[in-house]
Order: sequence, then structure tokens, then C-alpha cells
Amino acid sequence: MLKNIILAAGEGTRMKSSTSKVMTKILNREIISYIVDACDFKNSKTIIIGGKNKDLLKKKYPELEIKEQKIGDDFPYGTAYAVSMAIDLIDDADDCLILNGDIPLITKNSLEDFINFHKENNNNLTVMSTNIENPKGYGRIIRENENFLKIVEEKDASEDERLVNEINVGIYAFKGEDLKNSLKKIDTNNKSNEYYLTDCIEILIKDGKKVEAYRADNPDQFYGINNKKELANAAKLLRERINDYHMLNGVIIENPSIVDIEMGVKIGKDTIISGPCKILGITEIGENCIIEGSSRIEDSIIKNNVKIDNSVIEKSFVDEKTDIGPFSHLRPKAKLGKNVHIGNFVEVKNANVDDNTKAGHLAYIGDSDLGKDINVGCGVIFVNYDGKFKHRSKVEDGAFIGSNSNIVAPVHVKKEGYIAAGSTITKDVEEGVLSIERADQKNIPGYVEKKKKRDLEKLKEQK
Ligand code: UD1
Ligand code: CA
Repeated sequence: MLKNIILAAGEGTRMKSSTSKVMTKILNREIISYIVDACDFKNSKTIIIGGKNKDLLKKKYPELEIKEQKIGDDFPYGTAYAVSMAIDLIDDADDCLILNGDIPLITKNSLEDFINFHKENNNNLTVMSTNIENPKGYGRIIRENENFLKIVEEKDASEDERLVNEINVGIYAFKGEDLKNSLKKIDTNNKSNEYYLTDCIEILIKDGKKVEAYRADNPDQFYGINNKKELANAAKLLRERINDYHMLNGVIIENPSIVDIEMGVKIGKDTIISGPCKILGITEIGENCIIEGSSRIEDSIIKNNVKIDNSVIEKSFVDEKTDIGPFSHLRPKAKLGKNVHIGNFVEVKNANVDDNTKAGHLAYIGDSDLGKDINVGCGVIFVNYDGKFKHRSKVEDGAFIGSNSNIVAPVHVKKEGYIAAGSTITKDVEEGVLSIERADQKNIPGYVEKKKKRDLEKLKEQK
């Protein structure tokens, strides 16, 4: 069986962070999640070595095996020591794919090619390598007449060794038996005083085993994150990869360097994304949409020909030809029909708004069901909360809700009900009825003139 072992217990000191390195997000997902996804092969089992982050890992991956490496001054440290935490889960006959937990750009295809190479060549150990221009910080692949000899870490390398451009990317394939045997022989005889997994190479070669370095193309996919500058660089590479994919699929992204699209998001052709937008989570956007300003769309479904301007949309559904914004907010469970207009400063939450209904300005539509062809005036509030409980209101097709009205839930406004501006509606409104709830207007002639006189007299008294 193939066992994937992901190393994620490291302290990540270079990150200077109180968050675990592998749980730090890049384009809205934890670094480690990219690696977990990339090695999600059929008939394989994934084991993660966690440290102080083990509870977070267990919570995120209840279906995976999480092994703990104790971290602290009293405990050993190093990638080999980390792997040894999984030793009781490894059978001699297993193939083991070991991956550093801080290389989120790795692709499933490369891992597949790598494992196939390892198996086809019947290697005892295969190390993934690549050539990069600036190898600083990485372990170097040392060869003699093309024969792979060992890996030396930057810290332990001689000047000549530092000139080598072929690096260890942090991905290894072992035969289970050879992994177990070589781990036993590793010591901490190096500058860092750590158990280096990379020492397995020399050990196995000495034992007469077949060890090869598999040199892969596209070095970007092995970019390792050790500090926050590298975090930003990795995000840049990933952003480019994702945005290139969408652009080649027919999406127009005006300035790809400022658009964050999470992996797995679907976007239809001819949709235009303009401005620093974020499109995150499990989101699907249709064709011919315009997403502009600095909009954020998360876990939502947006159908064709929708326009979204400078707005935030979370866990919502928006049907065709609807337009939203600028500056509106769809909160979870907003469901908008076709050709709906949600204008400026409108908030919709846990509400259905059916076809052709319009709320152009400054409204709150919460916990309500609105039918078709309704006009929601400026400043309308669906009052849904009594201080303890939420209640729903319902407004039927063709109703008119005048500006600055309050619809105090639970209330039912029936077909073509007509609410006068400024009314606070607490009782149901029958079909076709005008409902007006406000004091009669009084006009008092001559008032201003009288007031002026009064004020003048007061001023004289004060002097
Ligand atoms: C490691 C490799 C280096 C390689 C580079 C590729 C070793 C000795 N060095 O160096 O050759 O070029 O990756 O990116 O392996 N970890 C644990 N427990 C530990 C120490 C580390 O789980 O005790 C985990 C970390 O969480 C991390 C991974 O192992 O995910 C690699 O550790 P890191 O300290 O980043 O190794 P590098 O110095 O980058
Ligand atoms: Ca690293």
C-alpha cells in the first residue's frame, strides 16, 4: 500500500508567527491542505506528523492519521525524527511517499510521475530534485560522475557544494523496509544537531541499496515556505497558476496580479473580473458576468449575466441578470431570483427575493420572503429580531413598500399590497390594500414669523 507521510511538526521559527506554519493560509487555504490534496491517491493512506498543531490538524482532518512529534527542549528534532513517529504504521512491503508540509505548489501529476519512476526502477529510495537559479537555503544534491551520493544542507555545505543548483525539494519515495532500517541509523552529527531525513541516502547507498535522484521540471512547484516573504512569493506563483487557468478558459481578468481566486472555483467564459476581487470557497460563477470594484464572493453560486460591483457575497445564490451594488452585502442564505436589482448599501440575509424585485438603496432585508416585481423603497427595514428571537415576514408579488418603512416580523403583505412611506407595519396587509401608519400632517401658517418675533424678544431680555 502507498503511505503518504506529511511532515508538519516543525516549529517554523523563521515564520516568526504564533500560527503554525502549515496552518497558515495561502489564497484562503492552509498550506498543508494543498499537499494533502495533491497526494490523495486511490488506495493510499495519508499520515500527518503534527507537533503543537496536532489538535488543529485532527480537527481539520478527522479522517486522516495524525501522529504527534513532541516539541520542546527535552525532545529531539529533525525531519528524520518526525518520520519515525509514523514507524508503527508502516509495513515493510509499503511504498512510502514522504513530503514536507511546506511546499503547497506541488501538483498531483508530478507526484504520480515520481512514484511511477520509483516503482518502475525498483528503487529502494528515490529523491525528487530540481534545478533552480538561486538554491540558497535548500539541501543540495551531490553527485559524482552523475551518480547520486548524498544531500548536504546549506548550513553543512562546503563552498563548492553551495554552488550546486540541483536541490532536494523535500519529497522522497522509500520502500517501507528501507525507510525503517535507515531511520534507525541516523544521528545528529551536523551543524543543526538535528536528525536529518536526508541522511538516509548515504546510509542506504552504503548498504548497497538502489538510490536515485529524480530530476523534475518546473521548479516553481517545489517552492518551500520558511518565512513570510516566501509566503507572499508562493501566493504570487499560485495566483498566477490559478488565474492563467481561468484566462485560458475564457475569463477576462483585467489585472491578474490583484485578483485572488481560490483553487477549485469555477468561472464561465467572458465573465470580466476587474479590480482587486477575491473569489473564494466553493463558488461557481456563470458566463458573461461582471465582477468589479473590490468585491468578495465566497461559497456562492452566481448564474450568467450577473453584475456585482464593490460588494460582498457570502453563502448565497444569485440568478441570471441580477445586479448588485455598489456597496451591498449578501449574507448567508440570501437567494436572489432573475433580474433582481440590489443597489447601494443593501443588506440581504436568510431571505428569498424573487424575480424582478428591486431594492435600490439603503435597505435591510433579513429573514423574509419577497415575491416577484416588488419595489422596496429607500431605507426600508425588515425588522426581524425582537431582542430574543428572529421572525420571518412575507411580501407577495407586485407589492410596493414605500421608503423608510419598517416591516415588523412576523407580518404578511399580500399581493399588490401598498405600504405608504414612513409606515411601521405590524399587522398583515390584505391584497391590493393601502396601508398607512403615520400621524396626519399639520400645516401651521404664520408660525415662522411668530417664532422670529419671540426669539428677538428673548434676546433683548438677555441684554
Ligand atoms: C528541508 C530539507 C532540505 C530541502 C528543503 C526543501 C532536511 C534536513 N532538509 O529543509 O534538504 O531542500 O526541506 O524545502 O530535511 N518538520 C517536522 N519535524 C521536525 C522538523 C521539521 O515535522 O522536527 C517538518 C516541517 O514542519 C516542514 C518539513 O518538516 O514541513 C521541513 O522542515 P524545514 O525545517 O522547513 O526544512 P528545511 O530547512 O526547509
Ligand atoms: Ca522548508
